[in-house]
Amino acid sequence: MACTDNHNNNTITYSKTDPINKKVDSLIKIMTLKEKIGQMNQYNGFWDVTGPAPDNGDAEIKYEHLKNGLVGSMLSVRGTKAVRAVQKIAVEESRLGIPLIIGFDVIHGYKTLSPIPLAEAASWDLEAIEKSAQVAAAEASAAGINWTFAPMVDISRDPRWGRVMEGAGEDPFLGSKIAVARVKGFQGDDLSAVNTIAACAKHFAAYGFSEAGKEYNTVDIGNSTLHNTVLPPFKAAVEANVKTLMNAFNEYDGVPATGNEYLLRNILKDKWGFKGFVITDWASIKEMVIWGYAKDKRDAAKIAALAGSDMDMESHIYVSELEQLVKDGVIDEKIIDEAARRILTVKFELGLFDDPYRYCDETREKEVVNSPKHLDVVLDMAKKSIVLLKNENDLLPLKKQGQNIALIGALANEKNSPLGSWRIASKDNTGVSVLEGMQNYKDNNLIYKKGADITVGDTQFVNELTINTTDKSEFNEAIDVAKKADVVVMVLGEHGFQSGEARSRTDINLPGVQQELLEAIYKVNKNIVLVLNNGRPLSITWADKHIPAILETWQLGTQAGHAVAQVLYGDYNPSGKLPMTFPRNVGQIPIYYNHKNTGRPVRDAFNPELVFWSHYSDVENTPLYHFGHGLSYTTFKYENLALEKTVFGMDETINISVGITNTGKVTGKEVAQLYIRDLVASTTRPVKELKGFELIELQAGETKTVNFVLNKASLGFYNNQGDFIIEPGTFEIFIGGSSQTTLNTRFELE
Ligand code: NOJ
Repeated sequence: MACTDNHNNNTITYSKTDPINKKVDSLIKIMTLKEKIGQMNQYNGFWDVTGPAPDNGDAEIKYEHLKNGLVGSMLSVRGTKAVRAVQKIAVEESRLGIPLIIGFDVIHGYKTLSPIPLAEAASWDLEAIEKSAQVAAAEASAAGINWTFAPMVDISRDPRWGRVMEGAGEDPFLGSKIAVARVKGFQGDDLSAVNTIAACAKHFAAYGFSEAGKEYNTVDIGNSTLHNTVLPPFKAAVEANVKTLMNAFNEYDGVPATGNEYLLRNILKDKWGFKGFVITDWASIKEMVIWGYAKDKRDAAKIAALAGSDMDMESHIYVSELEQLVKDGVIDEKIIDEAARRILTVKFELGLFDDPYRYCDETREKEVVNSPKHLDVVLDMAKKSIVLLKNENDLLPLKKQGQNIALIGALANEKNSPLGSWRIASKDNTGVSVLEGMQNYKDNNLIYKKGADITVGDTQFVNELTINTTDKSEFNEAIDVAKKADVVVMVLGEHGFQSGEARSRTDINLPGVQQELLEAIYKVNKNIVLVLNNGRPLSITWADKHIPAILETWQLGTQAGHAVAQVLYGDYNPSGKLPMTFPRNVGQIPIYYNHKNTGRPVRDAFNPELVFWSHYSDVENTPLYHFGHGLSYTTFKYENLALEKTVFGMDETINISVGITNTGKVTGKEVAQLYIRDLVASTTRPVKELKGFELIELQAGETKTVNFVLNKASLGFYNNQGDFIIEPGTFEIFIGGSSQTTLNTRFELE
């Protein structure tokens, strides 16, 4: 162990009870330049670590580096056996025995999977989201992992971008709250506890604004959008003590994020005082050469290190270039010390220096990974994530008896797709299908027919999928069953691997022949409940016009089918609200609720006389489903929106109340949402901005008063220079069950 080492006449002087900064200082003092750079180097898992050592190629080099203390972290090594094996080399064979920090993409669970993050965001239930991250941390930490590359806190307004499934949607306020909940869930109150892991807010910054929703693309946004929309969730994560950040593949203002001093040093480290470390995204130092921003590897290393990227994920460039750059006087050794210090601090905080094998307890691994207790947590989370988009004539919930129900769609019988695309550790086909979930309700006559496949051939995460665009040979069987059914439940949408990293789409209609199938079934039976499975907002305009009931169920993880069935049958009353706008068609993108007014706004849905106003000639301005929209099996009425006065001083707290009544027949939950509009400001402000929400439960007939508070922090904004300012003037506030609400009042800020 490092603390007993006495090498090269350098003695580590710290004792176990010293504060971490003192321990880190003593360690840094005895580390060679090479060893410090080694801490800044992260490698992907490179050989079957439980087998013989590699003796060729890249793997051999990585192995040698590990033995020589030139690796600070490894990613994607998992399971106690494998982690113990690599840790053993670092700890027992390298000179100082500094333990590795082991990173992994624990995005929405390790083996037991929660819903995809976008789905979780639809719950607006911060407690449930935190709990779901706790389960993920418990399982991952039991499998040797002590650092997750989550939460992704990228705000995005573009459902073409496949990674929207991994974030919390389009709104910086909701996104910030969820970022904090997830960081707290992963890290807990005590990072050294064996069931917590370090979190990583990613991708810093603006990755969600990839042009045209194309993955790995360039970004071109202004400073106002950067500060008001992109950065708030990162800042919130930093304030919640997130231990690491990952930078983004994109550029900001012509400078790749990996080498962006403005983002990494000026904002993150200086202005926000971030104390953790920054990991690059995969090979993004190397990619600065391809961008045409760095001349070569040496230049790329210099730019990244000076900008403030502390650890190199798989570029192999820090380890090869930094030493010489310091020797040549191009980089001050202080930069290296600072990065190594940040990394070592997190390792100390994780308790890795007390026991590098603390996450490698095989007994705990057996008990915790896939623990049946976790199934309850992810089932609860899954039910809370479902959004009822439409429910004409109370078609839902389904009657529990005496019904002929036709269940149609390849996704209804899928056990893989509900797991989503980020589930490296979990086993294929371990999700509960909708068919299995519905089979628990035995007093109806349920008949399943696929209708059509979504994909053709092999479905592998690493390959492009082939979508079935021609084979309709099983349509007729499904039509026959639909003809005789009282209700048809159609499960349609995207295959699990159609969203996620590198899954951008220009067409976000129902893929393949599913739209045709839907229309063919509709011809013979109009009583259709459309259950959507998808990792992004889809454009389902035809369905919205014709299909009476639509349930958004995303990709809900291990317990998906049970959650869907319980909602379909009314054993759980849905309360989810959309965290992202659903467009009418792809041409409206980017479409988001907190847009600017423009000088020529069109408020009416569509007015053929208003030609020279901001609109399209072929589709109305409104989205198909608004941000914050979501129905329940009951209804809610908002009234008595009240402010204690109408003029407030800058430092005063503004208390707002509203009465909400459950006007339906069953108990239900509602997310009450508060929006503001700053009517005149020194830079233009959005027409609505979410500034508060409250999840409440009301029994039939019950009324509750919900209180909201606004203050300086909620009424200010960032100007073009990135300074937070609050300006006097008139503010409008809106409260209701979606961003579409019109219940409003005004006040003055003096
Ligand atoms: C690339 C992705 O962009 C990032 O989010 C992920 O954490 C890393 N690969 C590691 O797998």
